[in-house]
Amino acid sequence: MHTAFTPSAVQANLNRIYDQGFASDFHEEFFSHSGFSNFGYWTPGLSQPAEAAEALVLELLKPVQPISGPILDVACGQGGTTRTLCKFVPASDILAINISTKQLAAAERNAPGCQFRAMSATALDLPDQSQAGILCVEAVFHFETRRRFLKEALRVLKPGGWLALSDVRFKFPPPARIIPPANHFHHLREYAQIYTDAGFEPAVIRSVLKPTWKGCRNALRAYALKRLKRQPSPQTFKEWSMNELRCQLYDAVFSDYLLVNVRKPLA
Ligand SMILES: C[S@@+](CC[C@H](N)C(=O)[O-])C[C@H]1O[C@@H](n2cnc3c(N)ncnc32)[C@H](O)[C@@H]1O
Repeated sequence: MHTAFTPSAVQANLNRIYDQGFASDFHEEFFSHSGFSNFGYWTPGLSQPAEAAEALVLELLKPVQPISGPILDVACGQGGTTRTLCKFVPASDILAINISTKQLAAAERNAPGCQFRAMSATALDLPDQSQAGILCVEAVFHFETRRRFLKEALRVLKPGGWLALSDVRFKFPPPARIIPPANHFHHLREYAQIYTDAGFEPAVIRSVLKPTWKGCRNALRAYALKRLKRQPSPQTFKEWSMNELRCQLYDAVFSDYLLVNVRKPLA
């Protein structure tokens, strides 16, 4: 069962945005009620957003096979990523955290048997060297700050433990109420340095904007149009236009989508 948690101002704002978005019929149907909420990794043959979302997690986990627990799923959303981890380790070896108790309640239903706790990624209430691995899908750009999270991740990982995360590079600093300005970076060299600064081994970083956001954008556009044609109404027209605005906004501000794999040194 998840615990009580008092969010900061930025976190409360994120909870308002994500809780409302994730609970919408538009979002739930797009992801087939799977508990996923990420752009996915769209390879040829994939047509369903939930399949692509799971493929993104599997792509992040490829370099860390074979996997053993305990594993921490940071910013688990509604639990799709957490359920994917159950393919590799027993559910009892997985702890998933998020700042939204509403999302955690959904995650508990989507990944039964795993443990869930309300906690910020930047203040992990976990013992030193307690985790074999940490997964964090499409969330680290929100944390106050990315560097503080990396420090915490290093602390709770066992020696040799892994961190697998996906991240976004923006063309210019987005609004501070959703992305702390300290998280903005210009160059990949500068970005790679934050991992070594935190004490990790050199990061393996893959640049994958096309199979992630661009694949998701195409699927979102086709889906919004399908909903509008299926049931033309002021509501579906509003959804279609909001979706189109979002697609254009993300196209304008995303410079890259990154898959990152790093390890804590053995000694
Ligand atoms: C785009 S969603 C990704 C959800 C999930 N990882 C997935 O791939 O389906 C971003 C998530 O980050 C969470 N989040 C934002 N700031 C957080 C923080 N400081 N600590 C933990 N979770 C956070 C949000 O509540 C939201 O669930």
